[in-house]
Amino acid sequence: MCGIVAYLGHREAAPILLEGLRRLEYRGYDSAGISVMSDEGVLETIKRPGKLAELEAAIADSMPRGRVGIAHTRWATHGAPTQANAHPHTSAHGDITLIHNGIIENAGTLKKKLQEEGYCFSSETDTEVVVHLIDHLWGEGAPMEDAVAAALAQVQGAYGIAVVSTRDPYKIVVARNGSPLLLGIGAQGELMAGSDVAAVVGVTRDVVYLDDGDVGVLDRTAYRTFHLERGSVRRTVHQVTWDLEAIEKGGFEHFMLKEIHEQPQSLRDVMRGRLIADEGIARLGGITLSDADLDEVERITIMACGTSWHAGLLGEYLLEELARIPVDVQYASEFRYKNPVIEPNTLVLAISQSGETADTLAALREAKRRGATTMGIVNVVGSSIARETDFGMYLHAGPEIGVASTKAFTSQIAALVLFALYLGRRRAMSVLEGRTLVEALERLPGQVETILEQSDEIYALAEKFADARNFLYLGRGYQFPVALEGALKLKEVSYIHAEGYPAAEMKHGPIALIDDDMPVVVLAPRDPVYGKVVSNIEEVKARQGRVIAVVSDDAPELDGKVDHLIRVPQTVPALLPVLTTIPLQLLAYQAALLRGCDVDQPRNLAKSVTVE
Ligand code: G6P
Repeated sequence: MCGIVAYLGHREAAPILLEGLRRLEYRGYDSAGISVMSDEGVLETIKRPGKLAELEAAIADSMPRGRVGIAHTRWATHGAPTQANAHPHTSAHGDITLIHNGIIENAGTLKKKLQEEGYCFSSETDTEVVVHLIDHLWGEGAPMEDAVAAALAQVQGAYGIAVVSTRDPYKIVVARNGSPLLLGIGAQGELMAGSDVAAVVGVTRDVVYLDDGDVGVLDRTAYRTFHLERGSVRRTVHQVTWDLEAIEKGGFEHFMLKEIHEQPQSLRDVMRGRLIADEGIARLGGITLSDADLDEVERITIMACGTSWHAGLLGEYLLEELARIPVDVQYASEFRYKNPVIEPNTLVLAISQSGETADTLAALREAKRRGATTMGIVNVVGSSIARETDFGMYLHAGPEIGVASTKAFTSQIAALVLFALYLGRRRAMSVLEGRTLVEALERLPGQVETILEQSDEIYALAEKFADARNFLYLGRGYQFPVALEGALKLKEVSYIHAEGYPAAEMKHGPIALIDDDMPVVVLAPRDPVYGKVVSNIEEVKARQGRVIAVVSDDAPELDGKVDHLIRVPQTVPALLPVLTTIPLQLLAYQAALLRGCDVDQPRNLAKSVTVE
């Protein structure tokens, strides 16, 4: 989704801004632009529809020179991805430029008022309203932050903005409300702002996360922050622990492939220091709820979107099975507009890789308003969901750049297993069961490695099916959410239509689709429903469906019965989803590659969806 970078310092701004934009590319966008202010106080803006390469080509001819500037990648919401709609947007006299992430909900009303005042609009965006409003409200001789604050007082909606102006040169004003924004505090007076850490990490690892309602003022001497309602505030400086390597491809052709291959490590990282083998328990330092309160929890409501929702669904199976707590899983986007019942003793668990998904954040806030205790399972440290939940667990998976989530998903599953173990051992689970699970967790990263070693065989399979128009994914029990995730991965990156279904439900509809043209991926590792799934495979085969079965090492019943077998090592049923997911990621990746798709930035998708 849209990305913001801003720079002010002693170096040329344009190359630093472009580097920041490149690091934000993964978020998904369809146009890009840059505004740089020269030392003589002239603002130059260049923007282009399409990929960053278009903007870079435009800039290559005549790079705007200056040491303060803002840059943006836009993911279209209001208005098509054209040059006119690309950010930055400029005031009528060309003396203010602004970039914006989010949606201004009262843009229509404000636009009408501004038009009555004589303002002309050159784009279809909601953003342009804000730049004219700042211009309109800017009092003679007032500093830029006053004009920005006055404008924001009239704005409703979500925003992260950055503004520069020749009226108050060598300054950048940024503000956030509902859309992530942070400051980067560099050495030698270099200051940055960005919509995520990747934007600033090329210059500094010291970051200040802004809260909703915060305004940041960056100038030649220092930075300061104030809250629109509460006045001056001091926000802590945090150190980003991961380094640049983590957001580079490291020899892999794509981020998605790199992240698939990072899973043995990301799984080790999510478990690091959290397992006590002897006692068969998990130690989770982030769970700061008292033991007494934890024991009072009678229901868990999980909310999430996309891949994280699939992890949530697995969470339901895991927590009910291992901890015997009733769980319901909600799409965050649905929860926020229902009239949800939050009973006392309900724990609301938000799952999010980015920690910034607008719907998940809004659902979380709604749950808090209704008095729920809230927990987060989040990857991005310092993100909004991480900060707004009462307590939680970080995934420590490192930055995930590929738009289609891979390593975050398997880490989410592992985190949920740890949480289920943590609760389970306080409730129904015996020490022996706990130990078995801990031992299985410890074996898991090595088992993932053995599946990755079979990549070539899975790629060969992808060749056979890359031309298919539809795919069906079937699974039962723990494997049902994996079927959903496998189908999602395939459609996200290869644009092949795919559906995930509970294997037995197939009879109630999708079976009508099965013919000799329909590849059916069946998740059939050896678990308590294996026998049932074998029967479902028979049903598909009886209708000439082409079956790719993901099975355990030892599955003689299926030899010769299905068209293709992918084998995964054996483990306890609760952990099989991690193993069965890996081949589906590789299958989707290779199918996308063979179809010439942009694997890391699939069309229309965004990594972090910060609008409704
Ligand atoms: C977007 C991404 C998905 C992701 C979903 C939820 O749609 O493309 O990969 O699963 O958002 O994101 P979150 O950061 O909340 O996990």
